[in-house]
Amino acid sequence: MVCLGNICRSPTAQGVLENLVVSRGLQHIISVDSAGTSAWHINEPPDKRSQHAALQRGYDLSNQRGRQVQPEDFYRFDYILAMDKLNLIELQRMRPKDFVGHLGLFLDFYGDPRLQEVPDPYHGGHSGFDRVLDLIETASRNFLEHLVKTRNST
Ligand code: 4NP
Repeated sequence: MVCLGNICRSPTAQGVLENLVVSRGLQHIISVDSAGTSAWHINEPPDKRSQHAALQRGYDLSNQRGRQVQPEDFYRFDYILAMDKLNLIELQRMRPKDFVGHLGLFLDFYGDPRLQEVPDPYHGGHSGFDRVLDLIETASRNFLEHLVKTRNST
């Protein structure tokens, strides 16, 4: 799960997806992580507003710390999913030629082609953080469904 700062959107996506993975008992098969394309918030906990909005829905983000995407991530993960198009472009620039996984937009799993990006809530009000959660909860459910289906069919 990748965004710009790794303090708002991608930690939220990590928290929501991890929660779903555990609730389905899949934590030994699926590992979830997040990172930012920037180095601005390395080692910082998620933004207080993200933590607050997430906790209201039962997701505890407090143990996460910001990190920047590393070249090795392309060898550690099967799916690298960007929260918006600018971050996807940055990841495409970093993508090693021999990367065999899936690099794309997280909201490709949302199920509505009109929704492609999780809007950056950093400079906005509190409602932006709830909107981030709404988008991420649906995309996470559908993404996990996709993982389970594709795993069962191989
Ligand atoms: P994120 O949000 O990419 O969802 O973590 C942002 C966090 C920090 C900044 C921008 C976006 N910033 O400009 O510091």
